Amino acid sequence: MKPIGPLMWEHRLIEKMLRCFEGETRKIAEQKKVDPLFVDTAVDFIRTYADRTHHGKEEDILFRDLAKKPLTPEQTRIMDELVEEHKYARKTMGMLVDAKERYLKGEDTSQEVVALLRELAHFYPIHIEKEDKHFFYPCMEYFTKKEQDRMLQEFYEFDRKMIHEKYGKIVNQIEAQSIR
Ligand SMILES: [Fe+2]
Ligand SMILES: [Fe+2]
Repeated sequence: MKPIGPLMWEHRLIEKMLRCFEGETRKIAEQKKVDPLFVDTAVDFIRTYADRTHHGKEEDILFRDLAKKPLTPEQTRIMDELVEEHKYARKTMGMLVDAKERYLKGEDTSQEVVALLRELAHFYPIHIEKEDKHFFYPCMEYFTKKEQDRMLQEFYEFDRKMIHEKYGKIVNQIEAQSIR
């Protein structure tokens, strides 16, 4: 299997989650009420799965190795754009967390939450399509079979560490709060 295989499966799960955003935003817009639990779950999914686990493999492994290859100027431009889009997604998530926290303090940020969830649901599929249809396949041409196998192993090792990293972080946060 090519290393882009797991990345493309991950894209399918991200798309599925984004479709759930649509139903939720309709509910929030109508009721002018935010379900903080939904927002927390959405933030956790995007941060842990889409950003840390998925963008992590793209940036820390695939893009790192691609940067050593003689990419065309167009491919270099797309790769830079993809990295910028990852940054934009992180910033939008930060704004969503902020809007949810202000909501919990009593401010009516329901329309802000709707706009941010809609922005993510609109932006991500375009990013994914760029990778799936215009970037991943031609990029694989730069790697030998051996290099692709090595990359796939590195992906698996990266994924293996994620669950430990996530819960390690959670325990450290709880520990820091209980000391305060
Ligand atoms: Fe990406
Ligand atoms: Fe991706």
